[in-house]
Order: sequence, then C-alpha cells, then structure tokens
Amino acid sequence: MVSSLDGFIAKKDGSVSWLQSTDHYEKGTTLSEEVVAEFLKTIDCYVMGSRTYEHALELGWPYGDVPVIVLTNRGLTTERGSVQFYSGDLDKLVNERLKPNYKNIWLVGGARLAKDFIRLKLADDIIIAIMPVILGGGTLFFDYIGQEELLHLKDVTAYKDGMVELWYEVKKE
Ligand SMILES: NC(=O)c1ccc[n+]([C@@H]2O[C@H](COP(=O)([O-])OP(=O)(O)OC[C@H]3O[C@@H](n4cnc5c(N)ncnc54)[C@H](OP(=O)(O)O)[C@@H]3O)[C@@H](O)[C@H]2O)c1
Repeated sequence: MVSSLDGFIAKKDGSVSWLQSTDHYEKGTTLSEEVVAEFLKTIDCYVMGSRTYEHALELGWPYGDVPVIVLTNRGLTTERGSVQFYSGDLDKLVNERLKPNYKNIWLVGGARLAKDFIRLKLADDIIIAIMPVILGGGTLFFDYIGQEELLHLKDVTAYKDGMVELWYEVKKE
C-alpha cells in the first residue's frame, strides 16, 4: 500500500499525481526501474478488489501476464487470459486455491479488501510506503480494522524521493 502521511491510499477524485513525489531526501536510497522490475518478478499472483481493478484498467494495465484474481460480486467479464473473477469466501480463496499454486501472493488493495485480509489473518506481511504528503481526504486504509494485531518490523527503507517504506510481519498467535 502506498499511503499519505495522514493515512489515505486514494484521493476522492481518484487522481494519482500525489504518488509522484517532488521531494528530495539526500540520504535516501535510489529506487531504480531495474530494482522495481527485479522485485516485481518475485510476485506470482496479484489479488485485488474490483475498484482497484477498474482503476488499473483506466491507468494502464501494469501487471503484464501475471495471474490476477479480481474480487467482485458483479458479473464482470474480460478477454484478458491472466484475469479471473472471484466472489465470496476469502479464506477459501487464499488457502485452497492460491496457496497451493503460488508462493508470493501480492494483495494490491484497495482499502476494503486489505482490511478484510488483515481481519481474517490472511496477510503474512504488510508493506506500507508513506509518501511525503498530507492529502486531507479520500479513502483511509487504517480507519477501523476493529481488532488488535501485533506486528514485527522487518525492514525500513527511506528513498531519495522522500518515500518511507515500512515492512511488517503480522505476528501469528
Ligand atoms: N495507494 C495504494 O497503494 C492503492 C492500492 C490499491 C488501490 N488503491 C486505490 O484504492 C481505491 C479502491 O479501493 P476501495 O477500498 O474503494 O475498493 P477495492 O477494495 O479495490 O474494491 C472493493 C470491491 O471489491 C469487491 N469485493 C471485496 N471483497 C469481496 C468479496 N469477498 N467477494 C466479492 N467481491 C468483493 C466488491 O466489488 P463489487 O462492488 O464489484 O461487488 C467491492 O465493492 C482505488 O482508487 C485504487 O486506485 C490504492
């Protein structure tokens, strides 16, 4: 998830210019296209809510031919062979359909789906990248999860553009 400092993952109007930072943090790490490309190669499958899916279609499909599962209760269809639609039980989706077939499953979002995954204890790691901006409104990520979760901080990286990435493991009892 990429978030503003005040916790928003999307602006009300859906615009994404805030994801491009103009800030400069001298001591930060450079996030090169090569590093991003190498990282993306490690992802075996994406999962996303229908709103995130529709937004990705508008912006330009960034997932290539990697399998994508889209959660929806509507009868959406696509000719894209890598996309499948799913409705219903998330525990069954992850444990019976995805885990036996994929090693690194990336939940793209949005907020509603991410919160459901955390509530159902289906998320192993949470990676949140905070952009140097206060948006003041939009879609909140952590507005109300409704339960306590203990986390282990695995890594922190500050980038040259002022983005700070926090990587947490969700502790399992
Ligand atoms: N900043 C970031 O890192 C980031 C990441 C991802 C997304 N976003 C942004 O966040 C916004 C979308 O987030 P959102 O929270 O509004 O929506 P979302 O989570 O992307 O999608 C919600 C929709 O997913 C479907 N859904 C969720 N759980 C389901 C289930 N168990 N079974 C069947 N369908 C299910 C429903 O679709 P139907 O209504 O079709 O039934 C629901 O309306 C977009 O603007 C996107 O660009 C930002």
